[in-house]
Amino acid sequence: MPAIACVTAPAATVDVDLLIVPWFEKEAPGVVPGLNDASGGEIARALSSREFAAGPFDVFVTPVPDQKWRPRRILLMGAGARGSFTPGLARKLATAGALAARQRRSQRLGFLLRPGDATAAGDIDMTGFCQAVAEGLTLGEFNAGAYKTTDTNNPPVPVCTIVVPDLPDTSPESMPRVEQAIARGRLLGECSNLSRELANEPGNTLTPREFANRAASIASEGGAAVEILDEKQIEALGMGLLLGVARGSNEPPRLIVFRHEPVDPAPGPVLGIIGKGITFDTGGISIKPADGMERMKDDMAGGAAVACAMRAIARLGAPIRVIGVVPSTENMPGGKAIKPGDILKSADGKTVEVINTDAEGRLVLGDGMWYARKLGATHLVDVATLTGAIVVALGKITSGIFGTPESWVEHVRRVADRAGDRVWPLPLFEEYREQLKSEIADFTNTGGRPAGSITAAMFLKEFAGGLPWAHIDIAGTAWLEEAKPYMPKGPSGVAVRTLAELAFTAGAWPK
Ligand code: BES
Ligand code: MN
Ligand code: ZN
Repeated sequence: MPAIACVTAPAATVDVDLLIVPWFEKEAPGVVPGLNDASGGEIARALSSREFAAGPFDVFVTPVPDQKWRPRRILLMGAGARGSFTPGLARKLATAGALAARQRRSQRLGFLLRPGDATAAGDIDMTGFCQAVAEGLTLGEFNAGAYKTTDTNNPPVPVCTIVVPDLPDTSPESMPRVEQAIARGRLLGECSNLSRELANEPGNTLTPREFANRAASIASEGGAAVEILDEKQIEALGMGLLLGVARGSNEPPRLIVFRHEPVDPAPGPVLGIIGKGITFDTGGISIKPADGMERMKDDMAGGAAVACAMRAIARLGAPIRVIGVVPSTENMPGGKAIKPGDILKSADGKTVEVINTDAEGRLVLGDGMWYARKLGATHLVDVATLTGAIVVALGKITSGIFGTPESWVEHVRRVADRAGDRVWPLPLFEEYREQLKSEIADFTNTGGRPAGSITAAMFLKEFAGGLPWAHIDIAGTAWLEEAKPYMPKGPSGVAVRTLAELAFTAGAWPK
């Protein structure tokens, strides 16, 4: 995919088919010099008739009869109140703009970023805005119809230019910094799209072995080292939880291990990121109802996020060591499948009574977290489509975040917020642990209906070995059931940018 260009020239000189102009409520037709005149007064007419009132994601398109203007069409994109413009909103507006441009078959797209819009409150985070817009434009390129034999709903992807007519910072370093931010956003957007492609892939093509191969190429193309452990190596490590879940399937499990070493590795924190890699979750013997089960092909979205974040981390040269671990298997009800009441032994020696074979994610993650610790991780983050209960708690907008200590969870939350992944904390009070009590083993794998997402996280906590650890439950956010102006139906690519950006914030990690 071509790079996203950046120009500081006036909008009139930018050679594009469609120029997207974010527009704030109550703005006068003249705020962008020459724009209204170039439209032959159409913009003023649309504003005064309130055909276009600039509500978020409202669209107004007008041709540009003025031949002195190079953009052939202008698309005003409603951006809501001027005071609440953030890089997060700019990212969404850019995606919505890219999707609209593709629907209109535009081949060359411009996105006008007016720095004066940024905030009334002083400092403008220009690189933050540029990176976010580049991410958003790139997210608009995703094609969810990978297996369609006619491309009716996959219009071509336009070449994009971000137009910044007057940079607020006029120092000579300003432009290179903006260009670097755009390249970073482009890469992070591409990595998010790769993760969406993986999550969209059906269970019959994306078996654990195939997932491991694809994840390995994605990460190693970025420069990360990858190792794929097979069922014998997994057994030699004593990973009874991962092996237990894999028993019901004819497909052998895999453990995918990623490593990023910085150019000059100093002793310091080592980030361990662990992703759930269930390539299809039938529920096993505790089988799921048929209705909606097809969705369970994306039960490896957390693992995909880890693989694609590793690509970005290596490509961008994160300054710390990062270890990625993705335990991968199908969860199937075969003749050898584990049964409710069975007891499994984890790699770190803890025994688990399996009450429900559909609570398989926490099992494979338990062994994965142990392995990340064994490889030397000092700080852990796991990402998993773990519980239906998180959808009840937070809906499909926000992922749940859990963990200890609070300072680490809060740090991850802030990074996620900036990366455009909404997450919100839920508690891990000691009292919840009672729900995991087993008569026969160390604990059970389910805690009943109340606080289902919390008890799942309490289970994972047993495997964090006391390290700073955050768990992000993406069961509600990995897949959009309904299209939004800024995101089509299907896989969202959640958590890729959060995990990648986290590797660049070690200076601010709590000790
Ligand atoms: N993969 C599912 C969670 C899930 C549900 C993801 C809906 C996406 C959408 C997970 O393995 C699971 O089945 N969890 C069970 C746990 C229960 C048996 C304790 C659940 O949430 O019902
Ligand atoms: Mn399950
Ligand atoms: Zn699952």
